[in-house]
Amino acid sequence: AIISVINGPNLNMLGTREPGIYGAQTLADIEHSLTQLAEQHGHELLFYQSNAEHDLVNKVQQSKHDKVAVILLNPAAFTHTSVALRDALLASDTPFIELHLSNVHARESFRQHSYFSDIAKGVICGFGPDSYKLALLAALPLIQKPSR
Ligand code: DQA
Repeated sequence: AIISVINGPNLNMLGTREPGIYGAQTLADIEHSLTQLAEQHGHELLFYQSNAEHDLVNKVQQSKHDKVAVILLNPAAFTHTSVALRDALLASDTPFIELHLSNVHARESFRQHSYFSDIAKGVICGFGPDSYKLALLAALPLIQKPSR
């Protein structure tokens, strides 16, 4: 099945961006190890990042067309602001897991509200780059194996 990983703004800066909070791995490092993990489980990974809200909305809208089984979503700062991205997920009818590198509940109060958590299958946060792996493992039971 196809697993789509969608990353919001500033995640292209991972590795140099506040490494004390977000870790030393780059987004390319994360993409690499996650692709391997997906392949080990017989799935294909689509990996995407944008700093632009409308590109993220478009990517979510494409999910049906791209036959995406599940989305792993790190909306980054749009977690706390984007009704548009929320509405795109509701319209897409594709299950998704919300994830964050940092423990957003242990940070500024404005990070404690998410526009996604109540419509996500589940939420993973606080494990640094491993949050992506944990989200992928959590997604496996949500994926319909093709019948044959
Ligand atoms: C983040 C947490 C958000 O609050 C922040 O705006 C980010 C990254 C995380 O992965 O920890 O950009 O989503």
